[in-house]
Amino acid sequence: MNASRAISQPAASRRAFLLGGLATAGTMVLAGCSNDPSPAARPIGATPSLTPSAGQRVVSQSLVAKPTTLDLGGVTVDTWAYGDTAPGPLLRAKAGDMLRVTVDNQLPDDTTIHWHGIRLRNVADGVPGQTQDPIKPGTSYTYEFTAPDPGTYFFHPHVGVQLDRGLYAPLIIDDPSEPGRYDAEWVVVLDDWIDGTGTTPDEVFTKLTGGQGGGMDHGSMEGMDHGAMRGMARDGAQPFGDAGDVAYPHYVINGRAPADPDVLRAKPGQRVRMRVINAGSDTIFAVAMGGHQMTVTATDGWPVEPVTTDAFYIGMGERYDVEVTLDDGVFPLVATPVGKKGIARALVRTGPGRAPADDTTPRELSGQVLMGTDLRPAESSRLDPKDPDDQQMLHLSGQMQPYSWAVNGKPFGQNTPISLTRGNRVRLRMMNMTTMTHPMHLHGHTFALPNGLRKDTVLIAPMRSIDVDLDADNPGDWMAHCHNIYHAEAGMMIALNYVK
Ligand code: C2O
Ligand code: CU
Repeated sequence: MNASRAISQPAASRRAFLLGGLATAGTMVLAGCSNDPSPAARPIGATPSLTPSAGQRVVSQSLVAKPTTLDLGGVTVDTWAYGDTAPGPLLRAKAGDMLRVTVDNQLPDDTTIHWHGIRLRNVADGVPGQTQDPIKPGTSYTYEFTAPDPGTYFFHPHVGVQLDRGLYAPLIIDDPSEPGRYDAEWVVVLDDWIDGTGTTPDEVFTKLTGGQGGGMDHGSMEGMDHGAMRGMARDGAQPFGDAGDVAYPHYVINGRAPADPDVLRAKPGQRVRMRVINAGSDTIFAVAMGGHQMTVTATDGWPVEPVTTDAFYIGMGERYDVEVTLDDGVFPLVATPVGKKGIARALVRTGPGRAPADDTTPRELSGQVLMGTDLRPAESSRLDPKDPDDQQMLHLSGQMQPYSWAVNGKPFGQNTPISLTRGNRVRLRMMNMTTMTHPMHLHGHTFALPNGLRKDTVLIAPMRSIDVDLDADNPGDWMAHCHNIYHAEAGMMIALNYVK
């Protein structure tokens, strides 16, 4: 997921090899397009610093991105992380605060940080070759931006497939005026894990783009089990078609595998707010808590009309805030990977008792599993009523063999950026012409679904189309892309540039 992919990389780097292979694939599918200069292939230079306004609080943090060894709970992996944990350290501020985060890059590769979902100033968006120069190994870089909207967010690199390492951490923006109807709060970060288990995400990407037996081939579906999956919606049906490309060896909650899970504690009868973040690279999860119903109160930071459900789906890059009134005992909090084998699990403990077995699947997963797109916005989350001034198409295409994904007919770097005019209400028509579900994410803005639901990441099922409206009120050069990191890196990404 590297906006500067068309820039020639140092010949020795692994990414140069990967991208070289990718360019070949693009040429096969799109003969004649490969010589188009990338609009993103330019050096950016120094980032202008930001001065806090009068009375504005500044929240400062430093991060070290580095190789490390992690214990995922019975599984030891060499990986890359922010410090020595995955998820990395929680970053927390209040709406309106300025954040000042310094990243020390001790990785053997370029990196950046993208503040996923935050409507920030463009220069802090973390897209190499578009909003900043990549942070070179052994150097540091400071991000400064104001976080205007409360909610649950996260951050991760915007280079290659680094998201599929341990490089991610939650970012919470508190609402000083929120009533806070809960007694406790848990941050629940879901991830699909492969790094350091005998392969790396870069190698996975190479295999996928090589087209030979890496990950999953949707013909044979090694590791997939379409008929008899546990934890699916009623009748075993799930609405997402081919949900992922990679059969992960582990699924984790807060960096822990089911054998030695994270334990979330509170008292019986307490009302807990869970902020659930899907930091996975290729996995949609269905989430449930044994013995409990959950009330969904927000998605992607935006309040919704509360809905009580047995379980809910969460796509890569999506966030859901849910509230639960806790019973007395020990309960599994489970996330099952849609269309894949395996389970992610944490334990909820409000009293003594034995933990349920590792592979216990709560019956709630066979109940009502909420689709995020069925939520309705809280009144406060609605855009002002207005007809669109402009409509733009994002036509999503691609397939596994050869592994190639595109927006508007060409992979990123060859497709034509969408132009946005400041002040316009813009309707994006996102059409999925593939057999896979794609979580489409927009930088620097949020959008409204046809029913008004505000989001920044939305799952689009196979052969479905969705219209989303945004207000072009944050000038700069932005990105929209699939948050399947392998799809994004293979080209399912497009720039949205404000006309100057
Ligand atoms: Cu979380 Cu451009 O992505
Ligand atoms: Cu995708």
